[in-house]
Parts: sequence; C-alpha cells; structure tokens
Amino acid sequence: MKILIVGGGGREHAIAQAVAKSPRCTKLYCAPGNAGIAALAECVPIGVMEFDKIVSFSKENAIDLVIVGPDDPLVGGIVDELEKAGIRTFGPRKNAAIIEGSKAFSKDLMKKYGIPTAAYENFDDPEKALEYLRTKAEFPIVLKADGLALGKGVLICENLAEAEEGVKTIMLDKKFGSSGNKMVIEEFMTGREVSVLSFVDGKTVKIMSSAQDHKRAGDGDTGLNTGGMGNFSPTPFYTKEVDEFCQKNIFRPTVEAMAAEGRPFHGIIFFGLMLTPKGPRVLEYNARFGDPEAQVVLPRLENDILDVVDACIDGKLDEIDLKFSDKAAVCVVLASDGYPVKYEKGFPIEGLENFEGKDDAFCFHAGTKFDEAGRIVTNGGRVLGITALGNDLKEARKKAYEATEWVTFENKYMRHDIGKAIDEA
Ligand code: AMP
Ligand code: GLY
Repeated sequence: MKILIVGGGGREHAIAQAVAKSPRCTKLYCAPGNAGIAALAECVPIGVMEFDKIVSFSKENAIDLVIVGPDDPLVGGIVDELEKAGIRTFGPRKNAAIIEGSKAFSKDLMKKYGIPTAAYENFDDPEKALEYLRTKAEFPIVLKADGLALGKGVLICENLAEAEEGVKTIMLDKKFGSSGNKMVIEEFMTGREVSVLSFVDGKTVKIMSSAQDHKRAGDGDTGLNTGGMGNFSPTPFYTKEVDEFCQKNIFRPTVEAMAAEGRPFHGIIFFGLMLTPKGPRVLEYNARFGDPEAQVVLPRLENDILDVVDACIDGKLDEIDLKFSDKAAVCVVLASDGYPVKYEKGFPIEGLENFEGKDDAFCFHAGTKFDEAGRIVTNGGRVLGITALGNDLKEARKKAYEATEWVTFENKYMRHDIGKAIDEA
C-alpha cells in the first residue's frame, strides 16, 4: 500500500513509525512531515489545510490510504474532500469531527444521551453570559471557547471579576478568533485527569491504553497550558472499575449517540476524562490521536496498525483483537525555552544518532527541520518527544530522563516531574 500521512508533529512521527513497521506499507509519504519523519517517509511540502493539493497529490501518486493526524484538517472536512475524490481515508468526516470542533455540540450531545460531564450552559451572546455569571454562577467556574484553540481556549475563573474578564477575552476581544463566537460556561470539577485513546468504526469502540498528560509548562503543574509537556501510559489511576464504568457510561454511549445522530464516527476518539469524587466525567472529546499521547501508546501497539485502520474504515473493528505490550512508556517533551509564549528556533540539534537501532527508546520529532546546510535544527515550541519503554512506569521514567541527556540544543527546556504521580499510586 502507498500511504500518505497528513501532519508534521510528534504524533505524526509516532504514526509513521507504526505504519512503517507494517509489511503492507510499500511507500510512505508525509505532508508536510519534519526532519525526523523524513527518515521513514518521503516528506512533501504541502500544508495540512491545503486540501486541494493533498487531493491532487494523492491522485497523482495513486495513494491507497490517507491517515490524517491533526484536528484542524479533520474539523475542516479533509476526509470528506478526499472521499469525494475516491481516496480511502482514515479519520472522521466533518459531521463527526465536530465532536472536537464544537464544545457546545459535544456538551449538548452528552446532555441528550446522559453521558456524565460537568453541568453547563452554552452562550452566543456575551451579555447573556455576563448576566448568567452575575446571577447564577458558583466559583471557581470554567469558560471555554466553543471551537479549536490549540488547547488554550479554556479559562478557569476564581471569581466574578476574572469571569467577566474571561468573557471579554473569549467573546469580545476574540483572543481565540472565531472559536469564541460561542462559549460554554461549565461547572469546575476536581480530580485526576486521564486520557483514553480509542479506535472507533462507526459502531464499535475499542480502547487502546490509558495515559496521563502534563499540560502545564512548568514543574509542579505551574505556568501556562501547553499542547502537552510529556506523559505516561498506562496510568495506574485508570483502574478496572473505572474502565467498566467508562465503557458502559461513556465510550459506548458516545459512539452510539454519534451514530444515532446520523454522524457515524470512524477514526480515533480521545476521551479526556476527570476522575471526580462522584465518578468519571468527560472533560472533552478529541477526534484524533493525542500529542504526545500517541508517542506513549503507539510504540506499545502489537497489531499491524494498518489492519486496525482498515477495520475502522470498514466497520469491522469487532473482528480485531487489539493487543498492547505489557511495557510501560514515558514521554518527556524537549521544548524551546519560552514555549508556549515566545521562543527562538533554528538551533542545531546534536546527538540524535544515539537513538539509532534502539527498540526501547525513541526520539519523536515535533518541531524540527533541515536547515540550508542540511543540519537538523529546532523549528517549534515543542521540539522532540523522548519516549522510553520499561518493565514498569518507574523504569520507563528513569530511562526516558536518561535519554533526554543524549540530545542537546541551545534553549532546551523540559519538565523534570513527568510521571511524578506514579509515586503516589
Ligand atoms: P479541555 O481542553 O476541555 O480539556 O480543557 C483543558 C484543561 O482545562 C483540562 O485538561 C483541565 O485541566 C481543565 N478543565 C477543563 N474543563 C474543566 C472543568 N470543568 N473543571 C476543571 N478543570 C477543567
Ligand atoms: N495532549 C493533548 C492533546 O493532544 O490534545
């Protein structure tokens, strides 16, 4: 099979590594890819939102399967465009990717189908939102821009003044662009957060493995929210009892709800959950692999990923026996100092060869490129994701932190407490 992966971050590098392992893959392309993906795939300079170019490229190169990584093209309808052109594609169509693309949609879906989540109200009028906050709200309270906002459109407000400022930021100043045309105001929940990635074929859902992300930029969960500074999988807090509850009350009902709404979901659903004192609740849905969740989950997948992808597209996931290795994985993100606000890039990266031939330590490239001299240089806020496998989480964490020392670049920044929660388990 000739395969095209759309995207160019750490998640797509992890997908590319899984696909490249398949004997069914004869030629791999990635648009746009990055300097790490270039070792596995031919990178083509097409942006993820250039749907016309992606369609023409796929036709001209007789691509058998396109796998879409990021949220923006999925929510924008890339799958519909490719399918219209007769190209087989893995990912939800636009009418299903809305589960991530509109928080107002996903909250209404959960309410309608009784899926546990925080109590909420949707608003498209800032005056009404302010009135609600002044008369009905209990603090802290959570404000969420409706649309995609790079994981930054969520504000936790401690009091009315902060919430009023939040409405201004989201709905009036439009800090997150048109994402803020609508807003969700929801109850503040407490508890431990876990991520669960799943394969979905329209009717059947099979979960991969649980993971725990570290969204804040600084040690001890301080600083600004980021795309994710590292994570580990599986998380010991996702117990058998939690799994049983979620299968019955969250995973299956969500997939059935989407089908009942005429929006059958084929692809990956990433369930962002909070384990509250009252039980697991949905924080959010994503319509794709997490980044860096993919980097800790995919290296442990034992199936041929292309068999699983085919089953998701064809509605045959019930025929797949999904298998993950017993190993634990920890990923530590090496970022550019200053991320997520302001940072320099273009610094050469040394030591990447230390990962060559290793089967228990991987260096996934997130923001890298080749400079004019052909050197690999930093090219983003998140630069590399260092993942190590171990017999248990502690071993995986020790190995991952050791491996972070194998690479150097100016400006290198990381959190030092990824997986610290393991000690509390
Ligand atoms: P989201 O993009 O919806 O996952 O929100 C980003 C982050 O904001 C989550 O990972 C949580 O840490 C936090 N968050 C979102 N919704 C709530 C809520 N209702 N209560 C408490 N924290 C929340
Ligand atoms: N790591 C969180 C996300 O991919 O949304």
